[in-house]
Amino acid sequence: MSLIERDNHSGYTTTGHEWNGIKELNTPIPRIVLICLAGTFLFAVTYWYLMPSWPLGDRFYPGKLGIDQRTTLAEQTREADKLKRSWIQSVEAADFEAIYFDNALMAAVNDSGARLFEDNCSMCHGRLGVGNLSYPSLADESWLWGDDPTVIYETLRVGINSEHPESRNAIMPAFGQMGVLDAGTIDDVVTYVRTEARLPVLRTRDASKRLKAGQATYKLACSGCHGTDLKGNQSIGTPNLVDRYWLYGSDKDSVFESIWSGRQGHMPSWEARLEPYERKLLAVYTTTLD
Ligand code: HEC
Ligand code: HEC
Repeated sequence: MSLIERDNHSGYTTTGHEWNGIKELNTPIPRIVLICLAGTFLFAVTYWYLMPSWPLGDRFYPGKLGIDQRTTLAEQTREADKLKRSWIQSVEAADFEAIYFDNALMAAVNDSGARLFEDNCSMCHGRLGVGNLSYPSLADESWLWGDDPTVIYETLRVGINSEHPESRNAIMPAFGQMGVLDAGTIDDVVTYVRTEARLPVLRTRDASKRLKAGQATYKLACSGCHGTDLKGNQSIGTPNLVDRYWLYGSDKDSVFESIWSGRQGHMPSWEARLEPYERKLLAVYTTTLD
């Protein structure tokens, strides 16, 4: 039987164990640890009681407070929807002028408009609307139909050369393929158009004669659509031929090809695919690209 031994220095008794002369003090568990342990135990039991916790076969104990994250999410979604509906109604009610002057609506244009553009338009018109060969840039100052948001809104509704019954039509006739003009005549008109556009042309000996012939052909066959000044006509969507912007390329072969085989770009109609407010946001967004 071992005697109870007390450590003189700390005042505690020892456990009676000794290792190589070192004895273990019999100290109690600190009170704070016990309090924390009891606290966490109490917290756990209360939490089980109040919140959804124990699985019960195909159900679960729902908790005294009846808190359910699914209903919370549904409520939050309903709130967000209400908020969205209110700005959608504002967009639908506002005319274009009013949208430009309303900071909250312009924020929707910059945010939702940009997202809609990225999702629906950028594959053809490029990121930020800078365009591609055969797909016009929407970020420059050259427009086929004009940069008025009302015009763009209508273009989005009906499309260009699209399936829509009211589609805008913009067809560059295939003068060569249809046998209206022969290759030599088209060569001359290419020279004339490229000269007017201040693009470099080959100076041959009969240059001025061919330029004159090209001009005459242009007047007869082209000016009705592209204008006597070659600047196009936005009311029928014909491109300006003397600006820096070329939809199908400005080199001699590309211009020849445009006239020989014709051109007909396809812009889809968005009436069945995007809500009116979405097309409205996009129309305004498009005018802000630069
Ligand atoms: C499948 C490719 C394609 C998609 C997708 C597309 N476009 Fe177009 N878009 C075109 C083409 C091609 C033209 C030029 C038509 C032509 O040659 O006359 C055009 C023309 C336009 C024009 C007229 C430009 C002008 O100079 O007047 C606007 C505005 C326009 N698109 C906006 C949009 C917006 C906004 C979207 C997204 C909702 C979109 N497009 C999606 C192919 C596309
Ligand atoms: C019926 C109207 C019409 C007539 C006539 C016409 N064009 Fe066009 N032309 C267009 C349209 C519309 C486009 C654009 C097609 C498109 O957007 O896909 C175009 C496009 C072009 C282009 C391509 C421009 C670019 O940016 O790449 C050239 C070049 C051109 N025309 C030259 C001519 C010449 C030269 C003639 C006369 C021989 C002529 N056009 C006659 C309607 C016409």
